[in-house]
Amino acid sequence: MARTPEELVRLKQEYVIPCIKHYYEKPMNLVSGSMQYLKDSEGKEYLDFFAGILSVNSGHSNPEINAAVHAQVEKLQHVSTCYLIEPMIEFAQQLAEITPGELQKSFFCNSGTEAIDTALLTAKLHTGCEEVIALRHSYHGRSHVAIGVSGQKPWRPPVATMGNVHFAHNAYCYRCAFGLTYPSCEMRCARDLEELLQTTTSGRIAAFIAEPIQGVGGFVTPPPEYFPIIYDIVRRYGGVAISDEVQTGWGRTGENLFGIQHWNVEPDMMVFAKGLANGFAAGAFVAKKEVADAYTGPNISTFGGNPITMAAAIANVDYIRKNDLAGNAERMGKVLWDGMQELQEKHLVIGEVRGKGLMIGVELVRDRTSKEPAPEETARVMEICKDNGVLVGRGGLVGNVLRLTPPLVVDATDVQRALTTLDQAFESVEKSMTPA
Ligand SMILES: Cc1ncc(COP(=O)(O)O)c(C=O)c1O
Repeated sequence: MARTPEELVRLKQEYVIPCIKHYYEKPMNLVSGSMQYLKDSEGKEYLDFFAGILSVNSGHSNPEINAAVHAQVEKLQHVSTCYLIEPMIEFAQQLAEITPGELQKSFFCNSGTEAIDTALLTAKLHTGCEEVIALRHSYHGRSHVAIGVSGQKPWRPPVATMGNVHFAHNAYCYRCAFGLTYPSCEMRCARDLEELLQTTTSGRIAAFIAEPIQGVGGFVTPPPEYFPIIYDIVRRYGGVAISDEVQTGWGRTGENLFGIQHWNVEPDMMVFAKGLANGFAAGAFVAKKEVADAYTGPNISTFGGNPITMAAAIANVDYIRKNDLAGNAERMGKVLWDGMQELQEKHLVIGEVRGKGLMIGVELVRDRTSKEPAPEETARVMEICKDNGVLVGRGGLVGNVLRLTPPLVVDATDVQRALTTLDQAFESVEKSMTPA
């Protein structure tokens, strides 16, 4: 007999560190998954529109990926990076082939946080510089270093994090820091980077790190000019351009395999985790040869690039490409986008719909004129959707953005079901809202 959610909450409170939070006032005990569906301990089925935080792009317990993992477990489970193993080297070669531009040499570890940490270290070794530029509203992980480059106050503990980080403006057009409107703003947020570099740095930087679409930040999606302007400035000041593809990678944003490709710029490094091995615990970065070659070591990652996660990653990439999941994300993303536009016309609580492919953010506000954020209403919408069998995620600095990111295997029927459920949830929440 499975434990009840109430019992799990009680045990969690007693035995798990309190910084680990879970969703929902009334959480469920999830016990199984199959592609875009999950089941709880009481047999209730859910349509998953969050994909385990944008991780199972190829679906829960995907049979083809699982078969590759089972076969690898039977053959060789672990040896560490002290030994030569084929899956890691094969996948590194594949990464060089499928990533854009001159990205060539990879590092493997167990999470996005670790990959970010080592990517920054490598950029520092390559440039001989210390200073790093990150974006406001960004999130890059939970270690001292990764949280130190994250422009997210709620996730930053009030104790020392990495120094020498300067936070540039993101392109949050819905709440422009300069009070301007795109395109007449002439991309003031991006151009401001030069002023930041000239006034707050030595004039030489190690790296610029950014997510193409800010995940935890609530899917803030820059206009097309943003990254070309930023990358030009970064390169003039000697910095390595790092694209954090932890959320935007592996077909998520539609059409392309990687998010930054929508902005027609070529990063010097790309960082991966989450969807890299379809939810198996793998992190990685790929870098231009001259950048990667700056880190001669020694370095070891006991579980990095291990046979199991690499077998999963190889099978996952194969599945994504064979089934054109990036194309499906583009097509189903359009159905979701169009449906959300209709819901925005109907529901005043929807302030903005943004994103690309199957990475759609819905910012909820208590009032469209003042744009007062609506975090409690966002939590209510999530709870109602869950009760009605659809799981959605949440983000934004104050938690007022719904994150709609199903596994990329969904079809139009699934998208319509999510839209209908959201429509009902918005209606119910709006009924209980007092005028702001
Ligand atoms: C964009 C981005 N980078 C890095 C990370 C850190 O990844 P991990 O949780 O695997 O350490 C996250 C996690 O949510 C993320 O969203």
